[in-house]
Parts: sequence; structure tokens; C-alpha cells
Amino acid sequence: MNRILVIHGPNLDLLGTREPDVYGRTTLAGIEASLKRIAKENGAEIESFQSNHEGEIVSKIGQASAGFQAIVINPAAYTHTSVAIRDAVAACGLPVVEVHLSNVYRREEFRHHSLVAPVAVGQVTGFGPQSYELGLLAALSACRKGARS
Ligand code: DQA
Repeated sequence: MNRILVIHGPNLDLLGTREPDVYGRTTLAGIEASLKRIAKENGAEIESFQSNHEGEIVSKIGQASAGFQAIVINPAAYTHTSVAIRDAVAACGLPVVEVHLSNVYRREEFRHHSLVAPVAVGQVTGFGPQSYELGLLAALSACRKGARS
């Protein structure tokens, strides 16, 4: 059975109340429930991990190949700043799909650049909670194809 690790970066624990005009009203628990359902329908399993700390995210990515076949990650603000997370993604040996709730390319210029995208299989941005669902389907498809980041 494919096991997918879903990583949520800083401030995503606040979804539901955080800038609802930008991120909507769906909570992280709501997103995780729909991802669990989609994984089950596809004969797979997910584990979710949220952290506001860069080093914890780096460690989680570093350990992922022991228990998972792919990663879906919303690095949140670290998307635009973290060489450490990019290097962890590049080193992990798993297909990694980057997702964002908002369309980062329609927002402030500093959000237009992702350090993670060049080492990810691909990026899904702008579809709200559905970005995660599409990202999960892409990760499952990458597992089937044996893709690597
Ligand atoms: C985000 C976009 C980032 O620019 C921002 O810092 C976030 C959330 C998104 O999901 O749209 O925290 O990753």
C-alpha cells in the first residue's frame, strides 16, 4: 500500500480563521479528512504533519523514505525562503508535490519565487483545499510511475 506524507508548514494550523479572504474557511482537520477519504479510495494511506518550525520539517522530510512512497508539501512561507527545506526535498529520494491554497503568482511578488519547485515533481497552486486533493492524486500517480523528485 502506498503511504503518502502530507506536510503543512507554518501558520497552516490556523486555517479556518487565518485570512479567510485568502485561504477560505476550511480547517486543517477538514483538509485532512478529505485527503484520508481520497487516499482510501485509491488504496493508499496518508499521514499529516504540521509544524511552524523549519528544522522539524527538514527532519521529517529526511526520515520520510523509511515509511513513505511520496510527499505532498505546502511549505507555506518557507516556500520562498528555505534553502534547508529545498535541500531536504532534493535529498529525500521520493517524489514530492508542492501545493498552495492560494495562487501565489497572483499575489505579492515575493511569493512568485519558490525555492522548492525546481526540486519537486510539480506544483499545484490556487485551488484552495482542492490543491491538496489534486496534489495527492499527482503524488499517487508519481508513485505508480516510480517518479523521483
Ligand atoms: C501558501 C502561500 C504562501 O505564500 C504563504 O506564506 C502561506 C500559504 C498557500 O497555501 O497559499 O503561508 O503556501
